[in-house]
Amino acid sequence: MARASKTAPILQADRVRLRPFRASDLKTVHALHSDRENLRYWGVDPSSSLDTTRKMMRWHITGAPRTYMIWAVEERKSRRVVGMINYFRRDVRERRVEVGWLMLPSAQGKGYMTEAGRALLRYLIDTLGVHRIEALIRPENKPSAALARRLGFRLEGGPLRDRWLVDGQWHSVMLYGLIAGEER
Ligand SMILES: CC(C)(COP(=O)(O)OP(=O)(O)OC[C@H]1O[C@@H](n2cnc3c(N)ncnc32)[C@H](O)[C@@H]1OP(=O)(O)O)[C@@H](O)C(=O)NCCC(=O)NCCS
Repeated sequence: MARASKTAPILQADRVRLRPFRASDLKTVHALHSDRENLRYWGVDPSSSLDTTRKMMRWHITGAPRTYMIWAVEERKSRRVVGMINYFRRDVRERRVEVGWLMLPSAQGKGYMTEAGRALLRYLIDTLGVHRIEALIRPENKPSAALARRLGFRLEGGPLRDRWLVDGQWHSVMLYGLIAGEER
């Protein structure tokens, strides 16, 4: 099993590249993590202030690469950060990990996250030797479910009842799974 690098490696796709976040990305990260409407099906409370986002980002950047890593999704032609993608809850022994994705509304509907997702899956499977990848998705979150299916995930189960606690509210989620070799 390959060891995760300490910082997010650059992963290339056609129109986007995945790269580590930098301190100078703070405003975009805040835009991503404070937009309540865009985060309505997200699994974590929205950020309430720039300061909260800054603290969260510090953790994102230093991270805990064995189990967690985050990438900025950068549009190649403009070099603007348009989203983020991550893996988390990596279980090294069981070669399993969860993934999450979040895109600025202005960059949605272009297929950018499909490209980013494919690049991440390649990295997880080919470089880290991950065997099983999971995505937990609220049943209402049609764009995220469509993305998961485009990437090769299958709906395996759910609703997993009260799996997420967000802003003091419990939410149930569907379980999507992908086994190495099923990626598209
Ligand atoms: C989940 C999320 C990242 C999906 O974004 P998205 O833009 O739909 O996904 P993609 O970037 O892969 O783009 C796919 C869309 O672009 C369209 N598209 C346009 N050009 C394309 C191209 N060249 N290649 C592929 N798709 C293209 C596709 O048809 C599809 O649109 P459709 O669903 O209307 O058919 C986005 O909805 C989001 O950030 N949501 C908020 C955060 C969130 O809920 N995250 C998930 C938590 S589980």
